[in-house]
Amino acid sequence: MNKPIGIFDSGVGGLTVVKAILKLLPNESFLYCADTKNIPYGEHSAEEIESFALRIISFLVNKGIKLLAIACNYSSAVVLDKAIRIYPSLPIVGVLQAGARLASSQSVEKIGILATRGTVKTKMFPREIKKINPQKRVFQASCPPLVSLIESFAPEEEIRYVVRDCLKRLKIKGIEALVLGCTHYPLVRKIIEEELGGAIILDPSEELAREVKEILEKENLISHNSPQHRFFVSGNDESLRKLVPSFLGIDIIEIEHQDFQGGY
Ligand code: DGL
Repeated sequence: MNKPIGIFDSGVGGLTVVKAILKLLPNESFLYCADTKNIPYGEHSAEEIESFALRIISFLVNKGIKLLAIACNYSSAVVLDKAIRIYPSLPIVGVLQAGARLASSQSVEKIGILATRGTVKTKMFPREIKKINPQKRVFQASCPPLVSLIESFAPEEEIRYVVRDCLKRLKIKGIEALVLGCTHYPLVRKIIEEELGGAIILDPSEELAREVKEILEKENLISHNSPQHRFFVSGNDESLRKLVPSFLGIDIIEIEHQDFQGGY
């Protein structure tokens, strides 16, 4: 099946999800939307995120996609259920829900969530984890400056300083596993791992990729052609232009500028 997978995030974070999916399904093509005009999403209200996300989803649906992967935790928390109601025939998956599944299946009691301020406020991680496994104890912490530091390729020492400070509250609780609750964070996984010490790091994108593979196999929608990706950006395209070739190992032919208006 030749249709692409639709995927979106506020910026480059969703590339960590693309990479995880391509590892399992190397022939899939992506339509990638980065809403850099509104980054960081984590500092917006849930109402604003719903409106941004529904517009992007409508844009992607109109382009023709076979599956939608919401590669932003905050958007997954806010719009996944609504998007499924609006587009009942399209397979739609969210990275937050995948992360909650992954966390609840670990044989540990205390789970930490590091996420953006918006995601933490929704309390969706603790809710989804406890829905599957009520025994788990879940502790959340936000790290407001981190997304912008990652997008601007800030020096490692600056990122390390912020990460150390954000992890303090979780380390005090004695967490045994940490969910990277923002898709930008796997890009600085090594720093987080070093600052955290012993706890297991859980990357929801790996679980999401498994879910995508399972759905496409079941629906007989796996692509066998060589992939062709397209990138759409609402604002600054610098971070994407810089990261796609080095992180995904593919050349960007062109970045298309879009305001994702006129959809939903
Ligand atoms: N990468 C997104 C997430 O997973 C959003 C980051 C942001 O723009 O705040 O939540």
